[in-house]
Amino acid sequence: MVILSIETSCDETAVSIIEATGDFPNATYKVLGDAVLSQIEAHRGFGGVFPTVAKREHAFALVPILEKALSEAKLAALPHTMLYPEQKEDLRALLSREEGLADGIFSLYERYNTPAVDLIAVTEGPGLEPALWVGINFAKALGKIWKVPVIGVNHMEGHIFSSIFEETHLAPIEFPALSLLISGGHTEFVLSRNWAEYEIVGKTRDDAVGEAFDKVARMLGLPYPGGPEISKLAEEHRATHPSESINFPRPMLGNNDCDFSFSGLKTAVLYYLKGKEPGSYDRAEVARAFEDAVGDVLVGKARKAIEQFNIRTLILGGGVSANKHLRDRFTAAFGTDRSDVALYLPERKLTTDNAVMIALVAHAQYREDAPARDLVAYGNRRPSFPTNQT
Ligand code: KG4
Ligand code: ZN
Repeated sequence: MVILSIETSCDETAVSIIEATGDFPNATYKVLGDAVLSQIEAHRGFGGVFPTVAKREHAFALVPILEKALSEAKLAALPHTMLYPEQKEDLRALLSREEGLADGIFSLYERYNTPAVDLIAVTEGPGLEPALWVGINFAKALGKIWKVPVIGVNHMEGHIFSSIFEETHLAPIEFPALSLLISGGHTEFVLSRNWAEYEIVGKTRDDAVGEAFDKVARMLGLPYPGGPEISKLAEEHRATHPSESINFPRPMLGNNDCDFSFSGLKTAVLYYLKGKEPGSYDRAEVARAFEDAVGDVLVGKARKAIEQFNIRTLILGGGVSANKHLRDRFTAAFGTDRSDVALYLPERKLTTDNAVMIALVAHAQYREDAPARDLVAYGNRRPSFPTNQT
């Protein structure tokens, strides 16, 4: 089965094509094509991701990125015939809000033969609603002209699959499994008692971890996205100083639930910097102290949750799981032979938003006999998974 997947939930336009042989969860996967375009440069001036800019950038990027993925997969071959005028009209109506996208698809269709794709998968949410719609409408349009089914995928489930994907197959997971998802918009513990079963058992009450990284970076005068910048500075400090002397709070570490709070930590950094002239303090030391506090909270909370739910497998996922310090801390705490849990971290290139993870989830959830459902971008209007909290 060949799956073409599309991811446009935030500031990465990604298309991948994977071939799955065998049945989930024991299938073998081959990534035939994978193309990503990051919009970071377009958003840097705004200090964050600007939804209308993201939407426009996705609309411009989708056809070239698809073309790149198809070429890489050697699926872009032979000129095709023209589309009928009524087909074009139909597609223009579907893509009326996506600048330039209809013409892009017409040109692509007329240049290449219909590729041998069995299923199209697209991210439905969570994410930025306008950005998600571009991907969804694009997927629907391709589904129509290629006559291929289209299914919607949960982005956060994608991050979980990114972490357990081992180049050609999924890791053999022992349940119960706990995923700690840390990204720009989410920080949550997701409990799985089996495949495709997800329950949020803890989450942040305010800022997401990535958001805290980005905000602290801004306070330190670092460019967006702040996470990698903080990490770089903190690592520099660790390499040159045995310890640091700033002690930021470890919010909620003492609580008995699995919830987080990062706004207090952010405020503590703000107070520390208050009244200090730039240059009168060591930015690298602040970055390190902030990371140390985040590391203590995440590892400490994970330890408690593992005990509470008798967890066998711990999965760390989401954009922030690219962070070196956090990876080191989780590996030291849970990744050794003495550990009671098996730890999975995403391969570096799958930490950020990508389309490979969307194809993997699609393969896991696709049922040939399932009735087709109209896809709707759900943005951030609903929790990423069922939640145990009211
Ligand atoms: O999962 P992701 O790519 O997008 C969302 O779905 O939100 O996560 C993006 C977040 C941003 O807040 C970014 O600053 C953070 O991940 N991030 C990092 C690192 N790389 C990306 N945070 C800390 N250290 C990093 N190395
Ligand atoms: Zn993400």
